[in-house]
Amino acid sequence: MKVFLAICVLISLGLASADYRLRNRSDMLTYREECVKELAVPADLVEKYQKWEYPNDSTTQCYIKCVFTKWELFDKTTGFNVENIHQQLVGHGADHNVAFHGKLAGCVDNNEQGSNACEWAYRGATCLLRENLAQIQKSLAPKA
Ligand SMILES: *[C@@H]1O[C@H](CO)[C@@H](O)[C@H](O)[C@H]1NC(C)=O
Ligand SMILES: *[C@@H]1O[C@H](CO)[C@@H](O)[C@H](O)[C@H]1NC(C)=O
Repeated sequence: MKVFLAICVLISLGLASADYRLRNRSDMLTYREECVKELAVPADLVEKYQKWEYPNDSTTQCYIKCVFTKWELFDKTTGFNVENIHQQLVGHGADHNVAFHGKLAGCVDNNEQGSNACEWAYRGATCLLRENLAQIQKSLAPKA
């Protein structure tokens, strides 16, 4: 019985993580466009985002939340999905190393301070970008 349960758990964990679809550059551009439209982001801010600059203002905070939500990396009630973030950065086949997982987890919080969802998403995302920009850009690079 115990073995059977363990197998069920393993299978469901396997399925849960395989569920995430890796996003590519064109997905990112689609999310950017949709979120810019939904939030009526002014052109000067859009220009900054194109340079990976995300100033700390409420429009940008909500823009980040919008993109991360569409991307399935963030949810306004459950917060960041570290597993999906990890998969996006290392790819499906890649070795899932615990140290890197810990580094990502170190950037996100459970919003103990009770900020609104935009601030929460922004706080985690700017840390992830600061710590992992090269890897994030690589995961979105056009395929040669
Ligand atoms: C990105 O992924 C989407 C959805 O899987 C796919 O339709 C599209 O062809 C991909 N684009 C590139 C440039 O690989
Ligand atoms: C953004 O600005 C607010 C208000 O100044 C500050 O409390 C918050 O810590 C800043 N967030 C980040 C991630 O820098």
